[in-house]
Amino acid sequence: MRIPNSTIVLTGATGGIGSQLATEFAGAGARMILVSRDQTQLDALIKALPVPEIAPHLAVAVDLLDAAGRQKLRDICAQQDIDLLINNAGTNDFNLLENADPATVARQIELNLMVPVLLTQQLLPLLRRRPSSAVVNIGSAFGSIGYPGYAAYCASKFGLRGFSEALRRELADTSVRVLHVAPRATRTALNSDRVVAMNVALGNAMDDPRQVARFIVQRVQNERWGHCVIGWPERLYAWINALLPAMTDGSLRKQLPVIRKFAEANSRGANV
Ligand SMILES: NC(=O)c1ccc[n+]([C@@H]2O[C@H](COP(=O)([O-])OP(=O)(O)OC[C@H]3O[C@@H](n4cnc5c(N)ncnc54)[C@H](OP(=O)(O)O)[C@@H]3O)[C@@H](O)[C@H]2O)c1
Repeated sequence: MRIPNSTIVLTGATGGIGSQLATEFAGAGARMILVSRDQTQLDALIKALPVPEIAPHLAVAVDLLDAAGRQKLRDICAQQDIDLLINNAGTNDFNLLENADPATVARQIELNLMVPVLLTQQLLPLLRRRPSSAVVNIGSAFGSIGYPGYAAYCASKFGLRGFSEALRRELADTSVRVLHVAPRATRTALNSDRVVAMNVALGNAMDDPRQVARFIVQRVQNERWGHCVIGWPERLYAWINALLPAMTDGSLRKQLPVIRKFAEANSRGANV
């Protein structure tokens, strides 16, 4: 897909991965419509981006959990030619399910799954007006591998992967393509210090958000749509888990005491 002079709606734009996606896509010549709840941060981000040729970047400060916020975003987008929607806003709470706050459980599933589904539905008529357009959903490796301490997050990201697969097939005879990208652990504020410490203890790799953003820009530029897990061996683990889930059960059972220790400390806000 041609990035120069395209218009891209990016949710979660002020976050670790989102701000790098904004930088990389704008650097490649796109005009950005950046979405988060924080107007000041959005304005600061826009100031740091190259000025687009076609029209200024836009900042839309809305709460995506709020139907009125999504409607406001849709109304603004209806005045533009939208080429790409990137559903990137997300949240996670590393916790054992029995210790998790029910409202936090619900919020993860709402923001990570319901919001992309509903926002895509609202913007799809606008995307279909374009000769060539796309939806990019930012999932997670935990959308292919159920991981202890992340039950609600996994539920949301497994759901997002299923949504992306079905939508890709539903839109196969239209001009709208669908990409589902599943990063592995990435160094952003999404992960608490205890999550980072657990990843170090377990030897789980953590990517730089800029690398993740560059990978996504390349996939879009090269029109490599479909589904993709970022990182090796996570791609292999996802594949093994799909074919031989009992094998993953066995290896995660060995990690469980460490995961449990960090999840309980995270829940208490304590050091491990
Ligand atoms: N970091 C990782 O290890 C990792 C790994 C795999 C997948 N991912 C996925 O990558 C995506 C981005 O993650 P990240 O690490 O960049 O997270 P992050 O740094 O925590 O950023 C989250 C973004 O979402 C926005 N947001 C949160 N709640 C919102 C709401 N109610 N309405 C509108 N915007 C909201 C935040 O802005 P405001 O708070 O200002 O609204 C922020 O811009 C997520 O979907 C995540 O699940 C991350």
